[in-house]
Amino acid sequence: MKSRSSENVSKPLITVICDNYTAREDLEASWGFSCLVALKGKNILFDTGADDVVLSNNMARLGIDPASIDLMMISHQHWDHTGGIYTILSACRNIPVCVPRSFSVHFQEDMKRYSARIIDVDGADEILPGFFTTGELDGPVKEQAALVQTEAGTVVITGCAHPGIVRIVEAAKKFLPNDDIALVMGGFHLLNDGDNHIFNIIERFKALGVRYSAASHCSGERTRELFARQYAEHFITLGAGSIIELEHLKS
Ligand SMILES: [Fe+2]
Ligand SMILES: [Fe+2]
Repeated sequence: MKSRSSENVSKPLITVICDNYTAREDLEASWGFSCLVALKGKNILFDTGADDVVLSNNMARLGIDPASIDLMMISHQHWDHTGGIYTILSACRNIPVCVPRSFSVHFQEDMKRYSARIIDVDGADEILPGFFTTGELDGPVKEQAALVQTEAGTVVITGCAHPGIVRIVEAAKKFLPNDDIALVMGGFHLLNDGDNHIFNIIERFKALGVRYSAASHCSGERTRELFARQYAEHFITLGAGSIIELEHLKS
């Protein structure tokens, strides 16, 4: 199978591999989240879903070779984001794996059996050129989010957003203050929230200048409905198989 690295050197793309939803009939939906960021010739896997079989099958159908992954970032230590870690590590020895500092020491030691090079994240930092972590943010579960710097602005990718989706966007804005927020995508963790709270979050997004939104995974059906209504053509309906061309997020 051919690596994507050589194909998309100048075209930043995000491909959703695992999600509660699917955008293609030949891909499986399963609770959890995983996406591939293709940036400047590097393939970065953000989270690995819950089910390693679904991750493997969906990657195969998307033409993504597990051996082509250059870096893995894990948002937080929940089963629906860590399920495919060993599938990737068994295909790619010696890769850097970026985890929040609070990640279980035992889990980190297990990953090192595959020669994973663990990057313990504390504060916000640049991990690869144009690819950043917000740092480990406090919350009911500690979590990091990914920031991708593009010509269109910052793309924020969240796992579950346990620290709060607005806090994560604020952290992105604080770390990259000169860049607009082009897109916020992933799990917003608003499964049990009422309309007023969701509308309040949409207002905060607009005030922070978030140009596109793509609530998925654990965001909840109602959250997707309300964001889709308020963001209209600037709402992206995500699912396994969705491909986002980041240079198209400029306006
Ligand atoms: Fe989750
Ligand atoms: Fe979670």
